[in-house]
Amino acid sequence: MSQSSGGQIDTVMQEDRIFSPSEKFVSQAQIASLEASQQMWDDAHRDPIAFWDQFAKEELHWFEPYRQVLEWQEPFAKWFLGGKTNVAYNCIDAHLGTEREDKTAILWEGEPGDQRTLTYRELHEEVCRFANVLKHLGIVPGDVVSIYMPMVPELAIAMLACARVGAVHSVIFAGFSSEAIADRNQDAGAKLQLTADGGWRRGKNLPLKDTVDAALEKSSTVEKCVVLRRTGIQVSMQEGRDFWWHELMENASPDCPAEPMDSEAPLFILYTSGSTGKPKGIKHTTAGYNLYVKKTFEWVFDHRDDDVFWCTADCGWITGHSYIVYGPFSAGATCVMYEGAPNHPHEDRFWEIVEKHRVTIFYTAPTAIRAFIKWGDHHVEKHDLTSLRLLGTVGEGINPEAWIWYHKMIGAERCPIVDTWWQTETGGIMMSPLPGAISTKPGSCTKPLPGVMPVIVDEQGDLVASNNGGMLCIDHPWPGMLRGIWGDDERYREQYWSKVPGKYLTGDNARCDNDGYYWIMGRIDDVINVSGHRLSTIEVESALVSHPHVAEAAAIGRPDEIKGQAIAVFVTIKDVEASDELRGELKQHVRKEIGALAQPDDIRFTNALPKTRSGKIMRRLLRDIAEGKEKVGDTTTLEDYSVLANLREDEE
Ligand code: PRX
Repeated sequence: MSQSSGGQIDTVMQEDRIFSPSEKFVSQAQIASLEASQQMWDDAHRDPIAFWDQFAKEELHWFEPYRQVLEWQEPFAKWFLGGKTNVAYNCIDAHLGTEREDKTAILWEGEPGDQRTLTYRELHEEVCRFANVLKHLGIVPGDVVSIYMPMVPELAIAMLACARVGAVHSVIFAGFSSEAIADRNQDAGAKLQLTADGGWRRGKNLPLKDTVDAALEKSSTVEKCVVLRRTGIQVSMQEGRDFWWHELMENASPDCPAEPMDSEAPLFILYTSGSTGKPKGIKHTTAGYNLYVKKTFEWVFDHRDDDVFWCTADCGWITGHSYIVYGPFSAGATCVMYEGAPNHPHEDRFWEIVEKHRVTIFYTAPTAIRAFIKWGDHHVEKHDLTSLRLLGTVGEGINPEAWIWYHKMIGAERCPIVDTWWQTETGGIMMSPLPGAISTKPGSCTKPLPGVMPVIVDEQGDLVASNNGGMLCIDHPWPGMLRGIWGDDERYREQYWSKVPGKYLTGDNARCDNDGYYWIMGRIDDVINVSGHRLSTIEVESALVSHPHVAEAAAIGRPDEIKGQAIAVFVTIKDVEASDELRGELKQHVRKEIGALAQPDDIRFTNALPKTRSGKIMRRLLRDIAEGKEKVGDTTTLEDYSVLANLREDEE
């Protein structure tokens, strides 16, 4: 049961199931035993510099060799100092002249059903031509290019073309508003805007160019705009500012050598939601990031040359940057890229794509998995998913019951699941099973990858004992780490390096069990404090999701005169109607699963939860609603505003 002490997080969850990879999987895996993974981990721990040095030499192309592996002046790291490389070169040119030259790089599926494939050679040509377009438009190394495009191959081409000429891209998810684009453009000092006329989403034609037009009125640094024709929707083109992609490409030469870039030259900025309204531009640089995403892709996804890899994220998020574009292409992988929604035209669209392209590795988010469960097994059963050999999740904790469903329904109990914990800031995966070596426990991201040194501390910065929850920090720089917040070193220091001296503060709580397995317990700010016991949101939510009629749940603390905080939960249900009887049953269920302390005080049924555009539950907004606040906090990252209105109507 729960243990408590100052500043620590209590754990009430008991999850004892453990799953080992099949003999068949292990016999073909690159890292195929616990001993092999331990050896890598020990090597990296003993001498991280030598560990990364060896990989950097072997895995990246160097126009000029580096002279020093790491310079660490906390909190600023520089990796591979003095070296010159190019990320687009490592992603594409490195495969030319090898057997991968004619291998498919992108298998693209448009929402309306159109399809395109690009081999590495074809991708090279497209990227070179668009790189020449960028140069023609006056882009030089260090310029910032803002990208607001749908999930079409040209989005990846644009990112790689920026990398090729040394421009810094800032990809903005094509669901954000014109204000959000303008804020980000201003903060980054973007010079050029790339967009499309429109994009498809659930059968609707999103007017992307119109949104960009409004954004550009408030983006004082943007001089020009390139527009891809995707949906054919009518757009207005401003003379002298706006250019059609296809017209510029017509005259562009396919010959464009990659620009040798300094190891620490910025590669991209990616904005994430901060606690204040000001956008927070996470900065990643060239060589360290490239190496980190390449190696973590190969290790975690056990990549083989005959794999068809599908990461369902959008390139507008870090997952898309690292595991649709830079990691997989550096490793010479074949990637599926899908433009649209998982339920268009029907709820089986993903499984149709898996079947059609014989996908072998499938990487998605828990929010999607919970939606599949709600939609029903019959959508899955219609399709042949026998090509799959490995499954992954990212973005939130996965509730153990959702994990089990994924394992059984999608993986047919054959595919290991890699629950990958990481952040925009970390650049690549930090904790995850190595699928041929590490047995999995549902709900745990298992162990740190080689070279990653997590520590869990209490409010005083002291290490907590095993199985106790505390703040998750990282102890040593790693090549993929953020290099700062764009234009705001002070905020970088303050946010990530001030609370726990000498360590990177992740902002998540976690516990490490007696087997050395890590369990992420949610964001530090989301902890619920009931009578002095600090409970994690995910444990209460997972207990609810293990009830057969619960599809999704969000737990929050609301003020309570006696207990400090009371537990309020918002629940979406399946197969039954909401009732007081069910409310009572759910309270009892949580009590039985994890104990009286965690029994919810209020249960509110809702048909949807407020989520960010990348699918994370926005508990902060739910707290505001539970407290009856008239005006809720920052909603700029909210995906669907109608959810808020419904929640208010449903108030008890
Ligand atoms: O709270 C953790 C959660 O997502 C946060 C990072 O979000 P973002 O920067 O948008 O990047 C998402 C894609 C890497 C983390 O601080 N998170 C991410 N993966 C997991 C997770 N929580 C639990 N388990 C995970 N596997």
